[in-house]
Amino acid sequence: MIIAVDGPAAAGKGTIARALAQHFGYHHLDTGTLYRRVGLELLKSDGDIHDAKVATAIAQNLHAYAWLDYELRTEAVGAAASIVASIPEVRAALLDFQRSFAEQKPGAVLDGRDIGTVVCPNAHVKLFITASPEVRASRRLAELQESGADVTFEAVLQDIRQRDERDKNRTVAPLVPAKDAVVINTSEMTAEEAISAAVRAASSAR
Ligand code: CDP
Repeated sequence: MIIAVDGPAAAGKGTIARALAQHFGYHHLDTGTLYRRVGLELLKSDGDIHDAKVATAIAQNLHAYAWLDYELRTEAVGAAASIVASIPEVRAALLDFQRSFAEQKPGAVLDGRDIGTVVCPNAHVKLFITASPEVRASRRLAELQESGADVTFEAVLQDIRQRDERDKNRTVAPLVPAKDAVVINTSEMTAEEAISAAVRAASSAR
């Protein structure tokens, strides 16, 4: 059983995917962390963030790098992740790992941008989680402030809009709902309401 959870930045994919995995007793993979790790290593290396060769080499050897979880969650690393994510060779290097993860028994929930369209087009359940850019920016702002970051709403909103733009318009695996995805707009929902809606949609599609 594979559940694909896709959607733009800070729409609530992670919260929903974790809750679904817990509800059904499945494994969970946040695929964004893979791209974030490539972005982080590239930033640490002081190299050119657009260097496809270096980014691909990092993606191919991702297991060899150590990182701290909090380092991955910054907006700078999110932006770097979305830049390296537009490099076809980087995406290709991360594909096998994601597909093997998805095959685990009794099931797996993967969240990202292209799970229902590219990584697992045969997923049994596909959800596309979305929300307005303003709502997403205020959720991300709260998250960042909780971790002690000094950021403004405007800066976070601008970052989210830029990332949306890049993720939707890249040529490989652009951010788009799969044709057979159930779209859930969480703009007016609490986290609990969004989780219930996702569990309902996944239960009826299973
Ligand atoms: O947490 P948030 O939604 O802000 O971002 P994320 O899921 O950690 O993903 C960071 C970046 O990685 C995104 O902006 C995408 O460009 C890229 N990504 C992707 O291209 N494909 C995926 N399956 C997951 C993430």
